[in-house]
Amino acid sequence: MKITDTGDLWWKNAVVYCLDVETFLDWDGDGCGDFTGLAQRIDYLAELGVTCLWLRPFYPSPDRDVGYDITDFYGVDGRLGSHGDLVEAIRTARDRGIRVIADLVVNHTSDKHPWFRSARSSPNSPYRDWYVWRDEPEKEAGAPVFPDQETSDWQYDEKAGQYYLHRFYRHQPDLNVTNPVVRDEIAKVMGFWLQLGLDGFRVDAVPFLLETMGVTDGARKLPHPHDYLRELRGFVGRRSGDGILLGEVNLARDQQLEFFGGSDGDELTMQFDFISMQKLYLSMARQDARPLAEALLDRPPLALESQWATFVRNHDELTLDKLTDSERAEVFAAFGPDPSMQVYGRGLRRRIPAMLGGDPRRIRMVYSLLFSLPGTPVLFYGEEIGMGENLAAEGRYAVRTPMQWTSGKNGGFSSAAPSRLPGPIPDGGFSPEHVNVQDQRRDPGSLLNFMALLTKRYRECPELGWGSFEVLDQPYAEVLAHRCTWDDGSLVAVHNLGSEPRTVPLKLDDCDESVVLADQLCDGTTPLDGSGSAEIVLDGYGYRWLRVARPGDRGVW
Ligand code: GLC
Repeated sequence: MKITDTGDLWWKNAVVYCLDVETFLDWDGDGCGDFTGLAQRIDYLAELGVTCLWLRPFYPSPDRDVGYDITDFYGVDGRLGSHGDLVEAIRTARDRGIRVIADLVVNHTSDKHPWFRSARSSPNSPYRDWYVWRDEPEKEAGAPVFPDQETSDWQYDEKAGQYYLHRFYRHQPDLNVTNPVVRDEIAKVMGFWLQLGLDGFRVDAVPFLLETMGVTDGARKLPHPHDYLRELRGFVGRRSGDGILLGEVNLARDQQLEFFGGSDGDELTMQFDFISMQKLYLSMARQDARPLAEALLDRPPLALESQWATFVRNHDELTLDKLTDSERAEVFAAFGPDPSMQVYGRGLRRRIPAMLGGDPRRIRMVYSLLFSLPGTPVLFYGEEIGMGENLAAEGRYAVRTPMQWTSGKNGGFSSAAPSRLPGPIPDGGFSPEHVNVQDQRRDPGSLLNFMALLTKRYRECPELGWGSFEVLDQPYAEVLAHRCTWDDGSLVAVHNLGSEPRTVPLKLDDCDESVVLADQLCDGTTPLDGSGSAEIVLDGYGYRWLRVARPGDRGVW
């Protein structure tokens, strides 16, 4: 049966945009971004072509890990606004056809959460068993996630007289999901936000959530942790027919497949493709597209409902943990040679334009490539205008600086004194004077307008989100030529990761001289000859999106 309705599985060709309300736009002038500011900028996101907004944690929090340390799963951080303000922002987004998902951070709570306060106060607390306690720390599972701050996954608590498990910072005690009451509470949290209008969740740290490390009572360990993930997905489906779970699972391919629920596709709806992201950087560093091509070809086949989320930057360190030591060293040398640009020994704390020396050809090539990859692209706020990082900010905060709206005070983010902002704004070539939304909106040749073109073309080419993927043979290592086909539509994308111009011979076996390749990002058509061959001319760091246009095709122009 042919599937002609893409509407139900909306995530298969969504354009996702991730932002932190705190750093997006401060409407009341207190120095902190807020939901009212976000609501004011929904039209901006709609114009950019965003179809799904991912809100980073907005819950009450002592904010020692930008909100990933939560003290009330049902609340809204008062600095960002009220539940009412959040609902207004969601409503405005929905009105513009934008769905909204939010971080679900239930592997752990803040140590200031009332549950943990109660748990640590007495062994008889009803919340004691909501966390994972041991008299002696267990053998470490490996290096701590944040090796610069933590030496162990276990922390001794004076009050409790026991050690508790924390896979992240010590102020983030892990919840005990082997306790059925905790599992119920997590479902209630999800149900609450779905009822309020969210379309699903970006699920934080999924493998850590599922693990039962430190739980000694064998009878209580989850016999099949993946059953639990399946239950969560089923719950979202029941409560919100087309709600999604977009999971953070930075594991090897075969394990990722498990987190999708294998060929049944009944666990996570989407997963970030961390591996292709890392190989893309290796490919760029080497000017050799083959590592990226191999990573894409190595993706396991997925169920129709499942999808990869592609990205080139997120809010964390740009992790290179899946590369070998020498590959990582190559990427460090190319894009972040100074130790101050690196973090945790495995990642970079820079944004793309700075890593690429501000070279507009390379920057555009990367985003053209991102949007042409099979999957659903995810942008991190500020990427669309080419924001840089501020290395003066600590650790991962270097890439979490306020959004740059204008060339004015605080980049138009806030009218407050600079000392009250959530972080320092970049200076030098990436300062708001040089990089801001207002200027780029008025400039037809700006990166912002180029990104809007990419989102438009991506949405017009459902084969990118839905289709089959093949790498086309051609002679240049620095070139990636690939083709996505779905239904009777087919798109060829050709990217040159090298600085030298290339004329790339391509052959499409199922085509003949009746077919032309129609450029989608610029004017032009390239005829094929009788054997389905053509030569595609690319500048250094050039890119082309070519629709395989057959005579009589409708919808091709
Ligand atoms: C995830 C988040 C990261 C956070 C960590 C702990 O990895 O992406 O920002 O620090 O979880 O919640």
